[in-house]
Amino acid sequence: MTTQVLMVCLGNICRSPTAHGVFQQHVDAANLADQIDVDSAGTGGWHTGSAPHVRATATAKKRGYDLSQLMARQVTTEDFARFDYVLAMDNDNLYELQRLAPADYHGHLSLFLDFGNQTRYLEVPDPYYGGDKGFELVLDLVEDASEGLLAHIRHTRYI
Ligand code: 4NP
Repeated sequence: MTTQVLMVCLGNICRSPTAHGVFQQHVDAANLADQIDVDSAGTGGWHTGSAPHVRATATAKKRGYDLSQLMARQVTTEDFARFDYVLAMDNDNLYELQRLAPADYHGHLSLFLDFGNQTRYLEVPDPYYGGDKGFELVLDLVEDASEGLLAHIRHTRYI
């Protein structure tokens, strides 16, 4: 059974596409692309159909991640039927996902950074209204949590 992972933020143009691209690359590097599917979505729908923010794409590219093929979409209740892991970038989005999730959802719904090793940040700060440093911080946090998430999935699913 393929493990299905959904990364979620507000707009699906900054944090969750970054998490999507970075975690996908970790999965590819571990030769697990046929066993782990990665996707991303936003709790808000304003940017549906848009490519990731140019600063998110540029910052990721500097570190070797390609976000150019991603396109924003909004989370739906059907996502809970498909995804084993629904991972929020911050608490506001986690609360919204908890509100949307069917009462019988048995997957893993939590903050993405729960899987990280650093202890300073519990949430991925929204970089949308800030400077370039915010996008670098998103990458730092997302790279750290991607390592932890991959290790967790490999450990719990014996892959
Ligand atoms: P994201 O960033 O949730 O990381 O994609 C944002 C993108 C757009 C908006 C807010 C946050 N917005 O208000 O349009």
